[in-house]
Amino acid sequence: MKYKAYLVEENEGLFTGSVQELEAPSLETGKVLIKVHNSSLNYKDALASTGVKGVVRSYPFVPGIDVSGEVLECSSSKFAVGDKVIATGYKIGMSEFGGFGGIVHLPEDWVLKCPNNLSHFKAMSYGTAGITAAACVKKILDAEVTKDLPVLVSGATGGVGSIAVGLLSKLGYEVHALTGKVNETEILKSMGASKIISRDEYVSEPTKPLDKGLYSGAVDTVGGEMLAKILSMISNHGVVSCCGNVGGMMFTSSVFPFILRGIQLSGIDSAESSLDLKSELWSLLSDQWFIDLSNQTKSVKIEDISSEIDKIIKGDQIGRVVIEHGE
Ligand SMILES: NC(=O)c1ccc[n+]([C@@H]2O[C@H](COP(=O)([O-])OP(=O)(O)OC[C@H]3O[C@@H](n4cnc5c(N)ncnc54)[C@H](OP(=O)(O)O)[C@@H]3O)[C@@H](O)[C@H]2O)c1
Repeated sequence: MKYKAYLVEENEGLFTGSVQELEAPSLETGKVLIKVHNSSLNYKDALASTGVKGVVRSYPFVPGIDVSGEVLECSSSKFAVGDKVIATGYKIGMSEFGGFGGIVHLPEDWVLKCPNNLSHFKAMSYGTAGITAAACVKKILDAEVTKDLPVLVSGATGGVGSIAVGLLSKLGYEVHALTGKVNETEILKSMGASKIISRDEYVSEPTKPLDKGLYSGAVDTVGGEMLAKILSMISNHGVVSCCGNVGGMMFTSSVFPFILRGIQLSGIDSAESSLDLKSELWSLLSDQWFIDLSNQTKSVKIEDISSEIDKIIKGDQIGRVVIEHGE
């Protein structure tokens, strides 16, 4: 059986992607063969597509950490042919060919039944960005962070950031959006942000060991020195959910936010989360936490993915990109 995929190849240190026809693998024990209806584009997929070290084991490779599709074959009774399923993270799009191809062959225990009330498209409008944002928000909710002060979201127009803005706002928090795209005020407000803060202005003042506690919590997708500044501005017993590093890996902070205000820095690793947690987050996103992402989601075919990859690498992407493989 043949399928179309966006295959990334390495040639003398240069990485290029093109749409090619590949042969589907034969079903192995413990695995499931899935016809992919939709995938999505995440920052990690852009790194995989451009050969950034540490993401993909070896090339040629088909990226795509997110998959929504239907079961073609399964080696056990766990799934029936035609079941609507989703799979995100683990080693999908890292060591197993991912959702930028029309067929994937994945270990059964990486795969979940898709909630009935989510279409393939809606599931991938969330994708890894959605369950990561949901995991960040859950940390804030579980700690019963006060709603008397706003919550800050960095990288607010990005995939994780924009969904975090929407979820926090739906759950009754006042949300301040920290962004490099201050001209996108209208879209950020439509996502639920009450105030837009310019990234350049925010980082222009030097970071203090402890600053005014203006926020009860934060979702940080940027990392680096942005995270240090955010930590200094969280009020007593607040929570910062740290999930990204688009702005850098290293940061220098002080112990004061922790020992004088008792704040928590909560790390998020959605890729390797248990299937139970993923299932809980999908269930929330499909129901009580459902948010309409149609205004911030664009749909592309794999033939048109290269320009979207360039945009996400440059930090210019807004919201989510869903990949359509067709029925
Ligand atoms: N830990 C996990 O489980 C997990 C899961 C998913 C993603 N992530 C990570 O979360 C981050 C965001 O992922 P994503 O898929 O949402 O990416 P994305 O859609 O590209 O969003 C990132 C956003 O960050 C801002 N940004 C970009 N470059 C920046 C820079 N140099 N300095 C400061 N801000 C910058 C931009 O938003 P503004 O212009 O609005 O500022 C951009 O839209 C990535 O680091 C990704 O690897 C982690």
